[in-house]
Amino acid sequence: MTNDVSPRVLNLAWLPGDGIGREVTEAALAAMRAVAEPAGVALAVAEYPIGGAAFDATGDPFPAVTRDGVLAADAVLLGAVGGPAWDTLPPERRPERGLLRLRAALGGFANLRPVAVPDALVERSPLRPEIVRGTDMLIVRELLGGVYFGEPSFVTGDAPEREGVSTMRYQEVEIRRVAEVAFQWAERRRGRVTSIDKANVLAVSRLWRDVVSEVQRTRYPHVDLEHRYVDSAAMDLVLRPTDFDVVLTGNLFGDILSDLAATLPGSLGVLPSASVGGDGPGLFEPIHGSAPSIAGKGIANPMGTILSGALLFDDVELPELAAALRRGVGAALGQGIVPADLGGTATTDAVARAVIDHATA
Ligand code: NAD
Ligand code: IPM
Ligand code: MN
Repeated sequence: MTNDVSPRVLNLAWLPGDGIGREVTEAALAAMRAVAEPAGVALAVAEYPIGGAAFDATGDPFPAVTRDGVLAADAVLLGAVGGPAWDTLPPERRPERGLLRLRAALGGFANLRPVAVPDALVERSPLRPEIVRGTDMLIVRELLGGVYFGEPSFVTGDAPEREGVSTMRYQEVEIRRVAEVAFQWAERRRGRVTSIDKANVLAVSRLWRDVVSEVQRTRYPHVDLEHRYVDSAAMDLVLRPTDFDVVLTGNLFGDILSDLAATLPGSLGVLPSASVGGDGPGLFEPIHGSAPSIAGKGIANPMGTILSGALLFDDVELPELAAALRRGVGAALGQGIVPADLGGTATTDAVARAVIDHATA
């Protein structure tokens, strides 16, 4: 018998974007290639413009070439978009609008943001070790609805009497489908969902609470469900992070709470995300932005993007490759390869090299 296994080709759309986006995604792609190639998985990577870079090149932060490219890929790896150069553009030309259009085009309504504090970071966390040790939560953020997409949305009138309106809107179907994702993850984890809203004030949150309760009652009675208001839950995320397993929340609260949760490991630079559940390929990106003040210096932390690569490999059913990347990041940190955002001195390249060494050892 021959051992003639033809290599699997994974078609990746690579959207480096702005600021540190290129640096961190290059590091992640290097690490992903290093674990994939020995396993007979070839990465076919096609680069597409997004954000400010796409606006500069084409006049559109999410041009058709990018839309077509991502929809034809197996998965999408994104760096970050935005920066001061584009902050005064009209809203529809802003890099961030390009990102929202990308997300909508792919249809991934469930944004998974795992937040863990690896042992190597327990002593480095700005919070006390006994608070953060053992933190392991999954934030499930609704990504395609809420106030990010609600209409009407406008600024009208003339100064000093202008008025600004944004609309927080959810339909039952949007709540139900993301709640399903959260409960399914809870089944595979520690069996607990904390749904976070502002139902003591917002009508949209009362609907959210009602629908999440109904999904639990009718389909996941074996999963514990707790409803929390966003203000006090924000405090407990920092004071009692190990109480949380799966955190289910809407688009805006999820955006804010996930950056807050980055205080637990100590930096935004280590947190990954996956946007899944749509008909299109999954979208994988670190939760941080383009960090303009450190762009081009070679010091950005690529770990959040490398761990986004791990989520990507999980999504395309290559869990061994995902595990290798996670092992590589954990071991690099354990050996003291710590970048500036976590209080160390390791460069982006040094982190990537260390991750690759440990992931392929
Ligand atoms: P940011 O996440 O870019 O930076 C916040 C802080 O964290 C800064 O001090 C930055 O230097 C630091 N930081 C972030 N990532 C890091 C990394 N990998 N390594 C080391 N340090 C890191 O948030 P911001 O400053 O509020 O936003 C800057 C721009 O990025 C804005 O235009 C914003 O709209 C955009 N943004 C984009 C995304 C995205 O593309 N998904 C996410 C957030 C913000
Ligand atoms: C994120 C970012 C984006 C968001 C912005 C840049 C549109 O903050 O991915 O967390 O708010 O979703
Ligand atoms: Mn954010």
